[in-house]
Amino acid sequence: MLDESKFEVKLKLWALRIPRQHCKVASRILNGYLLDKARVKPITEDPTSEENRYVILSEKVQNPGLAGCGQFKIDLSDIPDQKLDELKNIFKIEVVPHSMTLGYSYWDADYVLKQILPPGVEVPTSFETIVNILSTFSVVNITSPATAKLAFNLIFAGHVAHLNIHDELLPYKDVIAKVIYDKNYPRIRTVANKVGAITNEFRVPKFEILAGEDNMVTELKQYGATFKLDYSLVYWNSRLEHEHLRLITQFRPGEVICDMFAGIGPFAIPAARKGCVVFANDLNPDSIHYLKINAKVNKVDNSVCAYNMDARKFISQLMAAPVGESNLQSDVSMLKACENRDIRANEETEADNTQFGVEVEEVPDKVTNDLEGIQNSCRISDASVAAVKRPSDGCWEENGNAESAGISVAGGKKGRKNKRMRGSELSNVKTWEHVDHVIMNLPASALQFLDSFRGLIQRKYWRGSLPWIHCYCFMRANETQELIISEAESALNACIQDAIFHKVRNVAPNKAMFCLSFRLPEACFVEDITHTIHSTGEVTSLV
Ligand SMILES: C[S@@+](CC[C@H](N)C(=O)[O-])C[C@H]1O[C@@H](n2cnc3c(N)ncnc32)[C@H](O)[C@@H]1O
Repeated sequence: MLDESKFEVKLKLWALRIPRQHCKVASRILNGYLLDKARVKPITEDPTSEENRYVILSEKVQNPGLAGCGQFKIDLSDIPDQKLDELKNIFKIEVVPHSMTLGYSYWDADYVLKQILPPGVEVPTSFETIVNILSTFSVVNITSPATAKLAFNLIFAGHVAHLNIHDELLPYKDVIAKVIYDKNYPRIRTVANKVGAITNEFRVPKFEILAGEDNMVTELKQYGATFKLDYSLVYWNSRLEHEHLRLITQFRPGEVICDMFAGIGPFAIPAARKGCVVFANDLNPDSIHYLKINAKVNKVDNSVCAYNMDARKFISQLMAAPVGESNLQSDVSMLKACENRDIRANEETEADNTQFGVEVEEVPDKVTNDLEGIQNSCRISDASVAAVKRPSDGCWEENGNAESAGISVAGGKKGRKNKRMRGSELSNVKTWEHVDHVIMNLPASALQFLDSFRGLIQRKYWRGSLPWIHCYCFMRANETQELIISEAESALNACIQDAIFHKVRNVAPNKAMFCLSFRLPEACFVEDITHTIHSTGEVTSLV
């Protein structure tokens, strides 16, 4: 266990005993010669008299001479004569010894950990955290680089401190957690260490709670959006904050975005806040549960449609063109399920909307996972579905210039013009006619999902340019961009023109995460094929 008394440091200092009313002017004159220790005030009470206070001198002022019999000779030669003369003109200078003890509570986590951990172990000098800058934006301040020597790293996400302690330091895990907890409480109330490698398809780590509450449900902010999540049930990576922002800045208000691996919505929610309409899917039902909460909390539930199914099935159902009226009804059923929800949610009950944690009433998850269920729950004729509305058609309510330049607060502040999209407008979006961007953030296998676009989009229905695909992938030291492109091309069965690679971050010494962006090649168009969707959700082509 941690022996806190080991951190006690006694400082033997000198102070000037000064009449209370002169303290301010004395500290101005002595600027640069006063005790300079973080979180310690250089002026303190005189224990012997209420009329005086002690102005504590810097550690470097060490030589007031002892005149004998407990009397101190005034020898403050470290302080320039001119300053001393100024002081003497105001009051009689009296020097007294002053000692203080800095205990465990004084020292920061870096200092304490450096004393505890074996010599040679590098402690992160400061921790990766989320720092709010300005009032609406926040950035990830990654101050602990992933150097090989680092013994552990730490991420703050809401009230949770997420540790990754390397094997050789596991014997110290409890003491590390205690120090992190003590030094960051109450902001941090749970300290959890990631256990083992992530093996499940939802990309959720296993955690062991080492200090504080056993509560992984937390709330955090990214660039002004609020995200609620259960850290033990869903994927979350604060290190992707810059990447989320980078991609979203490429979207324009009114664009249609499909997020095939949406998680709890770090692309979807800010895109919707910017004025985009978003179709967001994730296989993990818990992610979709929180995505819906987050859409509601951020007041964009009217422009985010959430789905819980395999990404391949999702994109096929979303973008497959209907043929004939009966098929059309089937094909739009997924949208209609969403539309029902959105229209209800759009009834402007602000009190309800701001109530944190109130989930949008929706087609139940079990049902959304099952196409037949969706179809049964959505017997809405498509006769009312108008032609797809493009951003340029102005189908979205006007966003102010400042907001359209960046991520706007679609819900608006009190008293602001409401920027929310009407549910009926969302229902006008025909995703088999136009989608602007598709996001595929599952780096380990997203490239393999590109085959979903083969023969998916029918030229005769499509309007405008084909969508941008933003497909995340890993690249190892022995791999090249050409190799990645050829993997993408063989999945698509088409040549990619003008691929753009963006390096997101290093994930291991020989492995980096990239975003491969390209416009879906025209060769992916299918000329005249009839799709039909079975009740199982499987899509087959009828030529
Ligand atoms: C790397 S995370 C990305 C989440 C989010 N887009 C983000 O940037 O934080 C990948 C997500 O894909 C989901 N996922 C994994 N396999 C999937 C599949 N076959 N279909 C749909 N989603 C899947 C996981 O549950 C996880 O939430």
